[in-house]
Formats: sequence, structure tokens, C-alpha cells
Amino acid sequence: MTSLSTAPLAPLLDRMFAEAEAPTPPQVRAALAQLTPEERSRLSASTDEADYRTFYGLARDAYLAVSRDTARLLYMLVRACGARSVVEFGTSFGVSTLHLAAGLRDNGGGQVITTEFEPSKATRARENFAAGGLADLIDLREGDALQTLARDLPGQIDLVLLDGAKSLYPAVLALLEEHLRPGALIIADNADRSPEYLDRVRSATSGYTSVPFAGDVELSMRTG
Ligand SMILES: C[S@@+](CC[C@H](N)C(=O)[O-])C[C@H]1O[C@@H](n2cnc3c(N)ncnc32)[C@H](O)[C@@H]1O
Repeated sequence: MTSLSTAPLAPLLDRMFAEAEAPTPPQVRAALAQLTPEERSRLSASTDEADYRTFYGLARDAYLAVSRDTARLLYMLVRACGARSVVEFGTSFGVSTLHLAAGLRDNGGGQVITTEFEPSKATRARENFAAGGLADLIDLREGDALQTLARDLPGQIDLVLLDGAKSLYPAVLALLEEHLRPGALIIADNADRSPEYLDRVRSATSGYTSVPFAGDVELSMRTG
């Protein structure tokens, strides 16, 4: 038995995945329909804060969660590397955070630092962390990751999930880099939308060993 397969987390995650996999809420469809496909791509790929905040503001009622398989993989990786210290970029309603924290619980304890700039999402995430019985393991930092992850990081980070604005993956990695222990794992969801990040972690001299899998996930390991 694991925290994932028992109450209170198992029924909570069943409900959250059912909601995440339901058709896009009408208010989100209406909000995103204000944009042309080109404008949507431009805003979501921009490194300009006003642009990416506009994009995620329009999607504030959408889960945008990792897939069930990726979520389960996160739990397994936390367990397999005996992680105690995890950092996540992009909380949303907390599906991935709950899997990361469940891994820590089953490892005997630890902390997930996660960050979200949409206040309504942060509120929903906190409710879910409490409902899942994992709030004591989660430090949710409200604000832009470029500020919230620029301070008060643990001396050693064992595992990172990148799942916020794709254009910021290289900058967020740079903030965390000196804290990554040798062998630390970095999972980047939808990494195909961040070519600069892929160039960085796949470069022969980057200090990472990196492999794409499952279509849109990049798994990298800090080698030095
Ligand atoms: C793809 S969703 C995260 C999904 C979440 N990891 C899960 O599996 O449930 C991306 C989230 O990151 C947030 N976000 C994007 N850029 C951010 C930034 N620069 N700082 C903080 N949060 C950000 C968005 O508001 C959105 O909720």
C-alpha cells in the first residue's frame, strides 16, 4: 500500500483527474477564443512577463495537469531516488504536487517547494493539499517563479519538476542549478516547447545526461 493508493489521497486524485480530463470549461474556451492561434502561441512562448501572465490568466480555471502516467512516474522517481527535497515550477491545482509529496511521505518525509502566480489556483491547491493530508510537506510560494525560486532554497535539491511557462525553463533551471546534487533528476513536461532548454540539457558539456520519452517529457540527470 502507498499513499497514492489509500485514502484520503486516492479518492481525491480520482476526482481531480476526472475534472482535469473533462472537456475544457466553457469560460476557459471563451477566454482563449479571444486569441488567434498565432497570438496564443506567441503569448505562451514569450519570455515577457506581461505575455505569459496574460496567457495563464486566461487559462486560470483550467487544470493543465500532467497526465496520469507522468504523475505516477513522478511518484516513482521521488521514491526511487530517495528524495527528501523537491522543487516544482507550476502548481496549478496541485495534481503533480500531490504526487511529489506522496513520494516524500512514503520516503519518510521531506519538502516540496512549489510555485504558482495565479491566486485562485494557489487557493484551490492549498485546499487540495489539506484534503490530501499532505499540506505539512508542501511550501507553496505565490508569485512569479523568477522571484519565488530566487531565494530560500535548500542546500541540496534531489528532484525538480518544470511545468510552468515553457519559455522560462532555462531561467528557472539556472536559479536551481547550484543546489542540484550530483544525480539530481529534472523532469520537464512539454519540453518540446522549449528548444533552448533542450539545447541546454542535451549539450555534451552541460553537466546533464538527458533523454526524451513519452512524447513530451524530458528526463535529465545532473552529472556533476
Ligand atoms: C501546466 S500548469 C501546471 C500543472 C501542474 N504541474 C499539474 O500537473 O497539476 C502551469 C501552471 O504554472 C503557472 N505558471 C506559469 N508560469 C509561471 C511563473 N512564471 N511563475 C509561477 N507560476 C507560473 C500557471 O499559472 C499554471 O497554473
